[in-house]
Amino acid sequence: MGSFTFFLFFVCILFVTSYAQLTENFYEQTCPRLPNIVRREVKKAIETDIRAGAKLIRFHFHDCFVQGCDGSVLLEDPPGFESELNGLGNLGIQGLEIVDAIKAAVERECPGVVSCADILAQASKDSVDVQGGPSWRVLYGRRDSRTANKTGADELPSPFEDLPPLQKKFRDVGLNSTDLVALSGAHTFGRSRCLFFSGRFSNFSGSGQPDPTLDPTYRQELERACTGPETRVNFDPTTPDTFDKNYYTNLLANKGLLQSDQVLFSTQGAETVEIVRRMASRQETFFRQFRLSMIKMGNIKPLTGNQGEIRRNCRRVNDLGGETGHDVM
Ligand code: HEM
Repeated sequence: MGSFTFFLFFVCILFVTSYAQLTENFYEQTCPRLPNIVRREVKKAIETDIRAGAKLIRFHFHDCFVQGCDGSVLLEDPPGFESELNGLGNLGIQGLEIVDAIKAAVERECPGVVSCADILAQASKDSVDVQGGPSWRVLYGRRDSRTANKTGADELPSPFEDLPPLQKKFRDVGLNSTDLVALSGAHTFGRSRCLFFSGRFSNFSGSGQPDPTLDPTYRQELERACTGPETRVNFDPTTPDTFDKNYYTNLLANKGLLQSDQVLFSTQGAETVEIVRRMASRQETFFRQFRLSMIKMGNIKPLTGNQGEIRRNCRRVNDLGGETGHDVM
């Protein structure tokens, strides 16, 4: 075999093995009913809290962006580390008790087997598809970290950022501009507190004017709705609780809620402008890309094999309670 052919062969093997870590059938023997249990719990949560799905997928995003999809975001008091929940990007995050309820249901049937990181991945898929969005095959096999990275959580993408720093933060975890645009489409449901966008109402970036890329009528509606910094407003004024392509049609009309939303369309000459137009034009185009980008995000640096552990309680590492975690390999 020539040295170049050998090199290509080696690269292919590397490629295959790096994607072969997570698998669809990981829990087939150890927890075959996992998909049904998680789905049932997600549906139940959405029945009492229409935002439950939005809260769950946001957790998965914040998990994967900080030291990979390893459940680190859920740890309240990781020994020797400061919790990611105290990081800037997670202040005021909601829904930990929904994760607890799903985990408890899974533990009842399959004790010590399924990681919290995998539960977030599965719950995100169910949240999207229960609210009208696409479905996809979830890959499993992530294990839970015994550490957290608060600094990483301070540096999560910010709603006050322009396009280049957002693109950089996505690139740093292996996601491109298409992934950035597609994944931001999750802002088709859920709410944001006013403190994250009220700076766009007046004297935007010290200009003495409102943000010129915010539609004036929409701005007035938002100003009326925002009775205080903690008030929560729908991301999507048209279909607030449905997972559809309206996030993108809103951007075309200068009705993106956060600066970080609107810059995807309003940054002149940016490659994201065309991508937004494409997503806005056909729902299936958005759905197809969203599936791919979610799987890609879910593949960010997972712990596998005998790394980490399978937490019994998503908020705590095991040995604080005396457990060692069940090795599923
Ligand atoms: C592009 C960078 C992003 C920025 C700057 C950003 C920022 C934010 C902010 C500021 C909020 C409101 C939080 C609050 O009021 O407490 C929010 C909510 C939300 N984010 Fe993002 N986000 C980004 C990307 C994503 C991605 C990739 C996803 C999922 C794939 C996502 C899903 C959500 C959801 C569903 C909500 C609503 C949560 C709820 O109702 O509680 N976001 N985001």
